[in-house]
Amino acid sequence: MKVLVIGSGGREHALAWKLSQSPRAQRIYLAPGNGGTAADRNLQNVDLQGSEALIAFARAEQIGMTVVGPEAPLAAGIVDDFRAAGLRVFGPTRAAAQLEWSKDYAKAFMARHAIPTAAYKTFTDAPAAHDYIDLRGAPIVIKADGLAAGKGVVVAQTTAEAHAAIDHMLGGGSLGAAGARVVIEDFLEGEEASFIVMCDGRHTLALATSQDHKRLLDDDRGPNTGGMGAYSPAPVVTPAIHARVMREIIDPTIAGLAAEGIAYTGFLYAGLMIGADGRPRTLEFNCRLGDPETQPILMRLKSDLLWLLDHAIDGTLDQVEAQWDRRPALGVVVAAQGYPEHPRKGDLISALPADSDDAVVFHAGTARDQQQLVTSGGRVLCVTALGENLRSARRRAYEAVAQVRFEGAQFRGDIGHRALPGAT
Ligand code: AMP
Ligand code: GLY
Repeated sequence: MKVLVIGSGGREHALAWKLSQSPRAQRIYLAPGNGGTAADRNLQNVDLQGSEALIAFARAEQIGMTVVGPEAPLAAGIVDDFRAAGLRVFGPTRAAAQLEWSKDYAKAFMARHAIPTAAYKTFTDAPAAHDYIDLRGAPIVIKADGLAAGKGVVVAQTTAEAHAAIDHMLGGGSLGAAGARVVIEDFLEGEEASFIVMCDGRHTLALATSQDHKRLLDDDRGPNTGGMGAYSPAPVVTPAIHARVMREIIDPTIAGLAAEGIAYTGFLYAGLMIGADGRPRTLEFNCRLGDPETQPILMRLKSDLLWLLDHAIDGTLDQVEAQWDRRPALGVVVAAQGYPEHPRKGDLISALPADSDDAVVFHAGTARDQQQLVTSGGRVLCVTALGENLRSARRRAYEAVAQVRFEGAQFRGDIGHRALPGAT
């Protein structure tokens, strides 16, 4: 079967890498892909975007399955378009993806279906938002309603910070329409985890758990980013908590959507805050796989991903089980100078470690310039390794990171720290 993966990040490189291992994969295309996928003999980049061009390509090449990586095309309705064209595609429809593209919709949905999450209110009017902040006090969390590429959330430690965030978002700040409506929610304490499932409209299959590191700097300091590293599994999600998440969050979400006329197909990502009492609450929904969580998760997947996706598209996920490598995996993001605010592009990547069975360099913001590999975006690489235990996965990943050379490369030195007490 020929497969098309839509997107250009590390998540899509990992998807394509894993799909290419399937005995049934004839050819894997990425649209548009990146410098790393361009260099991989098993993968082929196609420089196309937009539903119309991609549908024409999928028809011409007789693509048997399309997998959509990022949220933007999902929010634009690419799955609806592919389905209308009679093409097999995996992802949520535009209506289903609203769980990610409108935080207000997601919060109201959770309230309607008693899905545990922080108390909130939505505002378009700045004076009312300021009053609410004064009423609730700090810490408090301000979220732009729309898609904001990881920049739409301010966790305000003081009411002054919260007021400033309101002025920025509702005052016509850089987020534009995405910030014209804001959700203000209570600050939740606990430990975060990423909980991702595959859904076929009726059945769900949980992927291995993971934990991301959203802040730029060691010890969870600095600005929020798209994610600076991740590992799988997340020990904070014990079997008991796993069962609770399925029972209290995932199942009611799928059932609630179904009751409202939406059959959810695609990956569903619940960002969780797990309280000291073991109660999981939903911080956010994403309608896709996480990046960089996908990289360690897929390194641990032993089952054939093409086969799983085939069942997911056909509505028969209840007939399959996924097998996971018992070894943990850990990925370290190597970012460009200036990330996340002003990432510098065009730096020559002069050295990379060779891939091996237990360590793979997934590319994200890389491009081919003549015969050279250069940086082309904020998160450049995600160096991911498996190990007998998390400590050895981490050692292996950082050994590989040490071989990466480009000007201004920055990475966190403490990925996995929450699962490795005492390590630095
Ligand atoms: P989100 O994009 O909604 O997941 O928010 C980005 C990050 O902000 C999360 O990964 C958390 O670290 C933090 N965050 C979001 N909502 C809350 C909350 N209600 N309480 C505490 N931290 C939060
Ligand atoms: N790593 C967080 C996300 O993909 O949204």
